[in-house]
Amino acid sequence: MFITSNYKKEYLNQIMEIVADSLGEFYGPDLYENLSRNWRDGFIVSTYKNIVVGFILGVIPASTESRILMFAVKKEFRGNGIGTMLMNSFIERSANIGVKKISLEVRVSNKIAISLYIHFGFTFSPQIIPKYYSNGEDGYQMIKYL
Ligand SMILES: CC(C)(COP(=O)(O)OP(=O)(O)OC[C@H]1O[C@@H](n2cnc3c(N)ncnc32)[C@H](O)[C@@H]1OP(=O)(O)O)[C@@H](O)C(=O)NCCC(=O)NCCS
Repeated sequence: MFITSNYKKEYLNQIMEIVADSLGEFYGPDLYENLSRNWRDGFIVSTYKNIVVGFILGVIPASTESRILMFAVKKEFRGNGIGTMLMNSFIERSANIGVKKISLEVRVSNKIAISLYIHFGFTFSPQIIPKYYSNGEDGYQMIKYL
């Protein structure tokens, strides 16, 4: 059974591994610690038998817009509904404090994530963001209105 909870420091190394494997990016530990301190509700982790299998990390300010910064599920656990569960929690937490708009960025080549976002009601912003990613790939901004 997958358990959804808030970020804890003991998850840090596993999350950094998932970010490297699944998103091809590296950010230092401070980034995760600071974001979890400032945006506790936006950092949601899914575990299975105490192993981190996926997470969503975003900011949910007490204003009208929240933003998803990172979202990934460990390769061998994909296709089990974990991503859907995490996204549902993020949307619910945003809605609960009165957020009206959720935004995120996604690689233009990332068909699986884009199909998940469309399924959740996200739509594309008109402009592509040139060279948004560290390997030079362009990004789409996608937005969901609540
Ligand atoms: C995007 C991601 C987080 C989805 O996680 P997941 O746990 O596999 O998602 P779910 O099992 O809840 O699947 C949700 C939807 O994603 C899509 N999807 C998932 N796996 C898919 C696959 N292999 N092929 C096509 N679509 C797929 C489907 O639309 C699916 O909906 P369905 O089950 O109704 O068909 C995961 O694929 C991932 O970590 N990808 C690499 C990192 C990444 O791209 N993150 C997003 C960066 S913007």
